[in-house]
Amino acid sequence: MDRRRFIVFGAAGGIAVLTGCGGGAGGAGPPPTGTAPPPTSPPVPNPPPATPVSPLTAGQPLADLVRLANTSATPGVFAATLMAQRASKSMLPGASTEFWTYNALVPGPLIDVFEGDTVRIRLENRLSQETTVHWHGLPVPPEQDGNPMDPVAPGATRLYEFTLPVGSAGTYWYHPHPHELTAEQVFRGMAGLLIVRSRTDPVPAAIEEKLLVISDLRLAADGSIPANTAMDWQNGREGNYVLVNGLYRPVLTINPGQSQRWRILNATNARYLRLSLTGHTMTLIGTDGGLLRSPVPGLDEILLAPAERVEVIVTAGLSSQASAVLQALPYNRGSMGMMGSASTTIPLLTLAYSSEAAAAVALPSALNSIADLGVPTTTKRLVFSSGMGMGGMGGGMMSFLIDGKSFDPARIDLTSRVNEIEQWTIENRSSMDHPFHLHGTQFQVVSRTRNGVTATEPYLAWRDTVNVAAFETVVFNVVQHQLGKRMYHCHILEHESQGMMGVLDVVA
Ligand code: C2O
Ligand code: CU
Ligand code: CU
Repeated sequence: MDRRRFIVFGAAGGIAVLTGCGGGAGGAGPPPTGTAPPPTSPPVPNPPPATPVSPLTAGQPLADLVRLANTSATPGVFAATLMAQRASKSMLPGASTEFWTYNALVPGPLIDVFEGDTVRIRLENRLSQETTVHWHGLPVPPEQDGNPMDPVAPGATRLYEFTLPVGSAGTYWYHPHPHELTAEQVFRGMAGLLIVRSRTDPVPAAIEEKLLVISDLRLAADGSIPANTAMDWQNGREGNYVLVNGLYRPVLTINPGQSQRWRILNATNARYLRLSLTGHTMTLIGTDGGLLRSPVPGLDEILLAPAERVEVIVTAGLSSQASAVLQALPYNRGSMGMMGSASTTIPLLTLAYSSEAAAAVALPSALNSIADLGVPTTTKRLVFSSGMGMGGMGGGMMSFLIDGKSFDPARIDLTSRVNEIEQWTIENRSSMDHPFHLHGTQFQVVSRTRNGVTATEPYLAWRDTVNVAAFETVVFNVVQHQLGKRMYHCHILEHESQGMMGVLDVVA
């Protein structure tokens, strides 16, 4: 794929686009019916996103996430309501910003539950377009997983219900997954963290936990959240602010000598977070689906692709008065016209040392007994590619495909046998990175091949999302334990919403 092709994309007719497909700030238009996503601005070459129109207020204390309250009195049952609704908040001085939210919160409320719990969450859709709630990474039954084939109409409600198996402790999230509308609903504010806890968590409780939901926001000068540009639909949208728990460059306090356990979620549509903490290393203890077998200390940086999560231990040095910055280092993901994120370091959060020293708390060397999934008895291979879309609303736009196809909710692309160990190979033949995500289970990456060099994965980890860099091939082992239809897709949400997605049917 290539710069030359890209330059052409503006030529063809986006006239229809302007009128039909809602998606604009009010979302009041009818849901689009075409097979292409609703580019919400004409496909002419857009200028790159504006630099911040004005700085947001930095330096507020990091806010704890608001917890979704459990309304059930029955032990082992978590019951609550999520309301998909618009809500306004003041971000820029003198202007109000309308978000689309869960329960009027950005990010959405924290869902904090235990392994073994039965979760009953009622979704009330007060938006003017359809939505769903998808439980990203959780092993919930397919019909409870908010697939695009199961939309909740505007004004409608539905109950999602599932029981979390023992062994599922980890750091998950929830977000909408309606056909073609996911990207917009997420960039307008709909995403929240979901933690499944173990009753026997090996990490000492004396290691204080901090939750960091990293999201992206683009604001126009009037405080509104603008629609996607044609460039965004190609590259994936990056905003002009990166927020942590909804705040711009907040401050997190740590005591000298103290260790903290950070659970970090990349809830952005398309931004890659190459995380580093100045003057400190990080110890990786967990990935998407839970803890590693043992800690991996001494990391200078961790790449968190969209939708990925990590758990890290951060230990403060002994000198009070020190401070540090959690930042996203430049990362070139192969997008076009986005020199910004490929070359700029973005501060996310300030770590400020207090004056009270804390005693060090040791981390156990054995965290989790991850069993190797075993020897695969069948294989699957998927190819990512890009090409110019033809005709319709996609005319002249680059399209991103899996096995040469664009998503069709009525088509089954792959079939798996329940409980069979499979080896999947994902080959990226495009010049842009794509984070691959599979619903309903966690997989174990086996190897990654770049430029003909294969690196075996150094440790076992449970993941539901893995970055497949430009021209890279990633191999993982996986088992699906429940019957029914599962989605797999690129988690650059603009690509997902444009059809870089397929349906896996798990059969007996
Ligand atoms: Cu984060 Cu198909 O989902
Ligand atoms: Cu998912
Ligand atoms: Cu992609």
